[in-house]
Parts: sequence; C-alpha cells; structure tokens
Amino acid sequence: MTKLIEVDEQQQIFHLYNEQISYLLTVEAGQTLSHLYFGKRVRGYHGQLTYPRVDRGFSGNLPGSDDRTFSKDTLPREYSSAGEMDYHLPATVVRQADGANALNLQYVGYTVLEGKPKLAGLPAAYVEDDSEAETLVITLRDEVTGLDYQLSYTIYRALPVITRSVKVVNNGTQAVQLEKVASMQLDFVDRDFEVISLPGAHVNERHPERRPVSFGVQSFESRRGTSSHQISPFIALVDKQTDEFSGDAYGFNFVYSGNHKFSLEKDQLAQLRLLVGINDYNFTWKLEPAQSFQTPEVLMAYSDQGLNKMSQTFHQLISKRVVRSKYRDLKRPIVVNNWEATYFDFDEEKLKPIVAEAKQLGIEMFVLDDGWFGHRDDDYSSLGDWQVFAKKFPQGLGHFADYVHNQGLKFGLWFEPEMISYDSDLYRQHPEYLMQVPNRAPSPSRSQYILDLCQAEVRDNVVEQVATILSQGQVDYVKWDMNRHLSDIYSLSLPADRQGEVYHRYVLGYYDLMERLTAKFPDVLFEGCSGGGGRFDAGVAYYMPQIWTSDNTDALARLTIQMGTSLAFPPSMMTAHVSAVPNHQTGRVTPFETRGAAAMSAVFGYELDLTKLTSAEKAAVKEQIAAYNQMRALVLEGKFYRLKSPLDSNQAAWNFVSADKKQVFVAVFNVLAQAQPYLTKTKLAGLDKDKCYRNLATGQVYGGDELMNLGFYDPVVRHDFASQTYLFEAVTEE
Ligand code: DGJ
Repeated sequence: MTKLIEVDEQQQIFHLYNEQISYLLTVEAGQTLSHLYFGKRVRGYHGQLTYPRVDRGFSGNLPGSDDRTFSKDTLPREYSSAGEMDYHLPATVVRQADGANALNLQYVGYTVLEGKPKLAGLPAAYVEDDSEAETLVITLRDEVTGLDYQLSYTIYRALPVITRSVKVVNNGTQAVQLEKVASMQLDFVDRDFEVISLPGAHVNERHPERRPVSFGVQSFESRRGTSSHQISPFIALVDKQTDEFSGDAYGFNFVYSGNHKFSLEKDQLAQLRLLVGINDYNFTWKLEPAQSFQTPEVLMAYSDQGLNKMSQTFHQLISKRVVRSKYRDLKRPIVVNNWEATYFDFDEEKLKPIVAEAKQLGIEMFVLDDGWFGHRDDDYSSLGDWQVFAKKFPQGLGHFADYVHNQGLKFGLWFEPEMISYDSDLYRQHPEYLMQVPNRAPSPSRSQYILDLCQAEVRDNVVEQVATILSQGQVDYVKWDMNRHLSDIYSLSLPADRQGEVYHRYVLGYYDLMERLTAKFPDVLFEGCSGGGGRFDAGVAYYMPQIWTSDNTDALARLTIQMGTSLAFPPSMMTAHVSAVPNHQTGRVTPFETRGAAAMSAVFGYELDLTKLTSAEKAAVKEQIAAYNQMRALVLEGKFYRLKSPLDSNQAAWNFVSADKKQVFVAVFNVLAQAQPYLTKTKLAGLDKDKCYRNLATGQVYGGDELMNLGFYDPVVRHDFASQTYLFEAVTEE
C-alpha cells in the first residue's frame, strides 16, 4: 500500500497526496508553519518554489530580526493568531490571565497516523479500515502560555479530500479564555476566485449565489444557534471560468450544526485567506490547565473538473463516510406523512383510511407527524410532554402502531425533543429547564422555547422520554424536528465566565442526545428536520442519514432547493414528498408527474391525503412507486450530475448514473411553456461513451456518446411546469 503522507525532515516539508490531489506545507523562519499548495496532484516538491522574500512597507518582521523581507503579514500560513504582526483576521484569539491576547504559534513537531482518529463528542468523517486514510498531526506551541495547537490533516486514499480540525491543549499553569478557534485556515496567492455560497430562508433554502471575491472581508455565517436555513455551512471557491464540468473548484463543508463562520479576506496584495470554524460571535471557552478543546471538522474537496465533480466527492464522502446509520446501505422506505394531509386536525379514525390507502398504493411507511402527544391541538402547547394524546388515540399509540404494522407498513413518529411549551407539564415541573437569561423574559418563536441542553439533567430527561416510547419497539422511524432558532443565550447551570460557551455547549448537548439515542436504537431510521432544512449539515448526517430538505413542497421551488443542496450534500440525504395542489406554500398548481419527478430524485415519499386522490392520481402514484422501485438504488447510490439549472434558464435537468454505468435516470423540467418555443436539447453526463443504452419506456437504443454529445430534443409541451423522466439501461451493442 503506497503512503499518503511524505515528510522530508531535512527540509521540513510535508506532502499529503493521493492519485488526485497534493497538499504541501513547510516550516519557515521563526518556526512559522507555512502553506505551499493545495490542488491537483504533483509528484513531489523539491523545496525551491518558496514564497519570495520581498520587503513590504508596513508589514512588519519577526521579533528580534533585521530581515525586512520576511513578514507573517504576507507569508501564506497554515494557522495564524492575534498578536503576531499579521493584520489579517486570525485563526485564533486567546485572552490570557494578564489580559493579553497575543500568541506566537511555532512549529514544534508532527506525528503521522494510520487511518483517522475520532473527534471526541463531535461528528466527523470516519474510516472503516485504517488503510483508507492517513492523518498528519502538526503541533504548534506558544511558549508563554503553554498552549499547544494540534492541527489535524487527514487525506483519504480514494477521494480528492482532506479533512481538517484543531485541538487546543492547555499545558500551561493558568486558565485562558479561547475567544476564537477556527477549524482551518487556507491562504492562496494569485488566485482570482469567485465564491459560491448557499443563502436562503425558511421554505426557500440553499439558493446558490456566485460572486467575485473582492478586496476586504466577506463572511458567510450563522448566529442562530444552528447551521440555519439562512446560510448553509458550505462555500466553494472557483475560478471565473469554472462551470459544472470544467475548471478548478475547492469546496469547504463544515461538519457542524451550530453557529458557523466562513471568512474570506482578500488583502493588499490580492492574496486570499479563508477561515472556517465555530462563529466567534458570543463565543468564549474557558480552558483550564490540562484541559483541551476540540474544534469541529472541515471537509475540503478539490476538483479539477468543475462543480459536478466537487459535489460528487462530497456526496461520496458524506453518504459513505459521514453517515453511520445502518440505513447508509439499506433502501429507505417510501413514506406517506400526514402533516400536509391533516395538520393538527386528526385522530386515529381519521388516519386509518390514509394508512389503508397507502397500503393499496404500495407505500411502505406511515409517518405520524406533529400533534399526537400531550394535549396538542395546535402549536401553542405540550412540547416536552412526550406521552400520547388520549383524545386522539383513546386506545394508546401502540394500538394505532399495530394497525399500521398490520397493514404491512412501517410506523414513523415525529418528535421535537429540544423544545418546551409554557403550557406543558414539563415546564410546570421544571421551569429551570428552559433556556433563559436571569431577570429577562425569554423570547418565544412559534410560541415555543428552547430546552437548555447544556444541563445534563435536561438531556437525561429528553433521552428518557424519547427512549420510553422507542423501547416499546413499535417505532421504525423518528422525524426529529426543531422549529425555532436559539435566543436567550444563557445557561443557569454555568458560571458567569462560562456563558460564552452556551451556543457551542448546546450543539454538544444535541450531539450527546443523538449519540445516545441512535446507539440505543440502531434499527430506527432517524430523519433530521428543522422547519424543513434549517439544520441541514454534515454534522446531522453523522446521526441521521436523511433530512427533510425544505417545508416547501412545491415541485418548482424544489428544483432550485434540491439542486442548490446538491452542491454540498448527496441526494440520499434529502427527503422529498409529492404534496397536494394548489401547493400549500406557494399556491402553485403543478402536474402530478412533475411533483413525482422532483421527489423521486431524492428519498421519496408523499405528503397529502391519499383518500382524496382521483383514480387517475392513484394510478399515477402506483406508477411512480413502480418507477422508484426500479431506480431507488440508482438515486441513493449513483453519481448525480447537474445538467441545467433553473437559475440560468427556463429548464432544470439532471441525471443519475450507477457505479457500473449501466443504469441512468434523467429528469428534465420545463418551467414555463412558450408559444413559439426555441428547441432545447438535453445532453447527458457520466455515461460510458462506448456503451449503448436502451430507453426502457420506448425501447430505443442510443450510444452513450450520442446521448452525451448530440443529446436528445426535449419535447414541445403546451403547459407550464412540464417534466420528462427517462430510465436507460446499458445493452450489448446490436
Ligand atoms: C416543521 C416540519 O418541517 C414539518 O414537516 C412538520 O413536521 C411541522 N414542523 C410540524 O410542526
């Protein structure tokens, strides 16, 4: 097995490489760890192509040195701190006992490990076998405080990926306050990048935006306590000419579900610094002697073939080496969820016909959404009281679950365990569980409040309540929702000098809940949700293999949302449902087949009252389920290619290709009909050019090269929001 990390101890050069990428770093004057290169694989580095020595006015020099040509303000660095004559945003800031915040992080040594160590208490990419990756750990030390910074770099053998994180160890004698600890820094010289980010809103998540990286600081951050609908914990840096299929693309995907911050700083020399980490907004962490602090991890992907390859790298990594659930490799059930069918207005008798109809149509799981517990008839009460609402289920939840199981369906159940209502027994018994600032009234959102997950007792209460229900063995799936963002950032369990830890401790508390419950119930399929995609990130994927992509179920809106999401996350992580029209979020009426085509391009299901469907619609459901059964593995495991974006044109198109390139699923969407339409073609991607493919619906055969180069004409359709889907299978040439 070839090595993945080479260290030239003489010249202090570290080279991480696989067949696709190289990452190079070295040690410069003043024991400064310096960045050399990240990109396409190079065979080796001879030590000559170092950063030039230039005397730059107003960029100062090393203490005690007369060399005016060396400055930490210009040198590409691996990890910077406050107080060292580097005027960029620093990777770390530490307030010390004497009030100073200066550090001088100097290289002191390294280790190389087989495989990839786990991150204590945090989700992260993993290996199944140590031969899959190697890890370089470099230690930087500040002599004055005794702080060690252990920078971890893992390179995967088979993917163009490096993961990074940092552990701070206090080997000194005094406590310090960490005010900022980025998980990574990456400096670039002579790269005129554009940046792609994923801003959005509730019911409007992850709409890609691409813009130049200009001088000064740009940041992409969440201060909402979660990874948020508003800005996803992901950016890509691309050259101006980079498109879906060509050019350099660097992707950065933060494995964290709380406040994040991506800062880009283009400096006086047009050099660029990227920092990714926990947001330093309202963040401090008291680090006592002998204690350590572990940052979350960043996944970095490099592509020399445009954005599709970058995304496919993340898809592969996240779906196979971040997701851990046993459902990673199992087919996910086709669900019907009662939320948009009934909202809170249901009881057992009203739900039974929906379940019975689901069975007739071939649906595999019924999900009972919000409103089954406490005395919840609307969203003003009962969060925290996870006992069945007897009015709706007079014979108990188990009785209804039995009914669902007897119909041959699995049974799924909705929870929102991180929340509390004023009108709940839990609040009446434990008002101190609610996150609140002393002497101030906490702010409601959706009339609900946050449980203080910093408190171990609160976490135990949540685990016990959820486990009590799951232990009865009737729940096959859990939808774990979160319908507001954090406020009133304070924990009654922490002293004054630790209140800056609350945001991060909340996230650690959430991970603790997920770790305990997923370990205790490994057979349960967990689906993440936060008012749709308000906590859609790789951290959640570590515990829950799929996430409700958006509360917006409109097929047209979903095209942009799902395509945007696919920049960073795999289709196997996105759930998508066919819902009723007029759509409940947009009022739009789209054809049933278009709703199916959008939803079938992810983890598929329905969210409407099945008993109200016409017989034609019921027939369409059966057809969709039959089609999805044919290609479910392809959608969940295949390579996904974005072909056309609705942000650039009147169309959206994508295709999935199986690993052996024998199966292809294509979906093409036409947004608006036109009276005198220009003809459009769809050219496929990722096929085997030497294979022939049969269209399973028509029997027609095409060459892979034909489909990719000539493309097929899209039909002219005389109605809005039309779609076509195609399933191709490779055949032996005739
Ligand atoms: C928000 C979710 O995204 C919806 O699907 C639904 O579960 C509601 N919450 C229930 O309150």
